Amino acid sequence: MSSAEPAEDAHLNPSALGTKAHWDSLYALELTNHSANPDDVGTIWFSDSDCESRIYQYLTSDSLSLPSTSTFLDVGTGNGHLLFSLLEDGDFEGDGMVGVDYSEGSVELARNIAEQTPEAAGVKFLRLDVIQDTPELAFFGERIAEEGGFDVILDKGTFDAISLSDQLLEDGTGRRIYEVYPEKVAKWVKPDSGILLVTSCNWTEEELVKKMTVEGSGLEVKGRIKYPEFTFGGKKGSTVCSVAFQRKR
Ligand SMILES: C[S@@+](CC[C@H](N)C(=O)[O-])C[C@H]1O[C@@H](n2cnc3c(N)ncnc32)[C@H](O)[C@@H]1O
Repeated sequence: MSSAEPAEDAHLNPSALGTKAHWDSLYALELTNHSANPDDVGTIWFSDSDCESRIYQYLTSDSLSLPSTSTFLDVGTGNGHLLFSLLEDGDFEGDGMVGVDYSEGSVELARNIAEQTPEAAGVKFLRLDVIQDTPELAFFGERIAEEGGFDVILDKGTFDAISLSDQLLEDGTGRRIYEVYPEKVAKWVKPDSGILLVTSCNWTEEELVKKMTVEGSGLEVKGRIKYPEFTFGGKKGSTVCSVAFQRKR
C-alpha cells in the first residue's frame, strides 16, 4: 500500500489512502462496475500473497478449533470478500458474520454482492467508523451483546489505511487516530477466547505487534500466519504479515 518503511516507533507517511474521500470514490467506481458486470466484485487486497486462503487455513486449523457457529466481525470490510471467502467451504455460518466500513459505498457494494451469494444470506453489513464511532456491542446484534463480543475479528488492510491518515485525535494529546485503534477494536473481542487477526503490508510483524499491544489494549500475541519470505539487503522479510491477538480480561 506504501513503500515507505518506518523507522522504529515512527508513523507512516500520510497518503490519500488514509482519507474517506479516497475510499468513497473507489467504491462509487466499483459499484458502477459491479452493476454493469455482477462478476466484477472489485479489489481483493493482498490477493498476490494468497492472503484469504492463508487466513482461511489459519482459522480452520486445529490450533484454534473454532466451531462453525463462531461469530466474525470484518473491520473495514470493503467489498466483503474476506467474509464471503470464509463461507465458500461451509466451515462457518453466515448468521454470525458482520462486516463494517465507514464508506457508505462499501456497505452498499458488499450488500449487493451478498444478495447474489446464497450462502451469505445471514451476513450483515453496517456503516461504522471504527475510530470516530463508539457503539455498544448491541449495535452488532443481540447475540454479540449477550456473548460479550466476537469470536474472531478480522482486519485486512484497514489498520494500514487508518495508519495512513494524518488526522489527529481531538483529545489534545497530539496522537494520530490510528493510535487508538487497538483499544477501540479490542473491546469487541470476546475476552480470553476471542481473537483479533490483523493483516498488514505497511507494518512489519514486529512493528504491528508493538502497535497493537500498547497499554490499554489488553491484547497479547496468540499466533501468526506464515508467508513466503524474501531476502533484501541482508534482511529477511515478507510483503504481508498477519498476527492474531487475544484479549486478556
Ligand atoms: C485496504 S481497504 C481493505 C478492504 C478489505 N478489508 C479488503 O481486504 O479487501 C481498507 C478499508 O478500510 C476502510 N476504512 C478506512 N478507515 C476506516 C474507519 N475509520 N472505519 C471503518 N472503515 C475504515 C476503507 O473504507 C476500506 O474499505
